[in-house]
Amino acid sequence: MSYVQQLAPGRALITGASSGMGASFARQLAALGCDLVLVARREDRLRQLASELERAHGHKVEVLAADLATLEGLTRVETRLATPDHFTLLINNAGFGSGGLFHEIDVAKQLAMIQVHVVAPTRLARAVLPQMTAQRRGAVINVASVAAYAAVPTSAMYSSTKAWMLSFSQALALELAPANVRVQALCPGFTTTGFHDTPEDQNFDRSVVPRFMWMTADAVVARSLAALERDRHVCIPGGFNQLMVALLRFPPGLAVARYLGRRRWRRQTPS
Ligand SMILES: NC(=O)c1ccc[n+]([C@@H]2O[C@H](COP(=O)([O-])OP(=O)(O)OC[C@H]3O[C@@H](n4cnc5c(N)ncnc54)[C@H](OP(=O)(O)O)[C@@H]3O)[C@@H](O)[C@H]2O)c1
Repeated sequence: MSYVQQLAPGRALITGASSGMGASFARQLAALGCDLVLVARREDRLRQLASELERAHGHKVEVLAADLATLEGLTRVETRLATPDHFTLLINNAGFGSGGLFHEIDVAKQLAMIQVHVVAPTRLARAVLPQMTAQRRGAVINVASVAAYAAVPTSAMYSSTKAWMLSFSQALALELAPANVRVQALCPGFTTTGFHDTPEDQNFDRSVVPRFMWMTADAVVARSLAALERDRHVCIPGGFNQLMVALLRFPPGLAVARYLGRRRWRRQTPS
């Protein structure tokens, strides 16, 4: 039996499951046989997905509506995860982008990003890992980004929080290997989801990014689960994204990425 199939009879908690890659993780894990706990703020979307998956696969799908940027929301999710309940997978996927100059963006939004990208994955991993290590079975996938490899101007907080996620996941993966618990940093490039339609990222200019650079959420998630099977601590899905990350090690590659990073942000004109 494959490693991922061994995890499937357990329960997976997925943050950011109301859309994009989180919803895709939910569909692919339900098809493998996982019971699910779906977390996000938009409860209506979570309920719709839960009934779709329960009808299709007959597994238990629980909805936990919570705002991970708030202490109250995060504590409820943390408490649910800390309850011994055969959790075998944690997918820290919730996140959002923001384009603009650091000193012009509302500080509350910057701090919310630290809460969702750094504090929530830290506390959720800390809550679930004792039971995973005790049962010597489990995996954590932290959804970072290729932005983790390039300090992108106009995405200072985004790229730095994703760089933290990459480094944290790599260290944790080494720490937990003797306990048979796997950790992966998933580093997607441009992916067609709701990400660039959120109010925080609405000044993103899609025309700057050619079509061949985009992947679907389903393709990214399938590659992540295949990489978990092979115990890859970092998954960069897609040949183009892998090439881009390789080129970022060289100054001209980094300069092009940063130029594009700056250009894809369109300054909002006051109405
Ligand atoms: N799309 C890309 O090009 C791309 C590239 C690299 C990395 N990523 C990363 O991939 C992950 C998934 O994003 P996506 O592309 O699938 O975008 P998406 O479709 O916008 O999904 C983001 C998810 O995060 C949830 N979320 C955001 N803020 C939250 C909060 N405060 N509390 C709880 N949930 C929250 C959203 O749910 P609610 O709004 O319902 O709360 C939504 O389900 C993110 O971490 C993102 O940084 C995306």
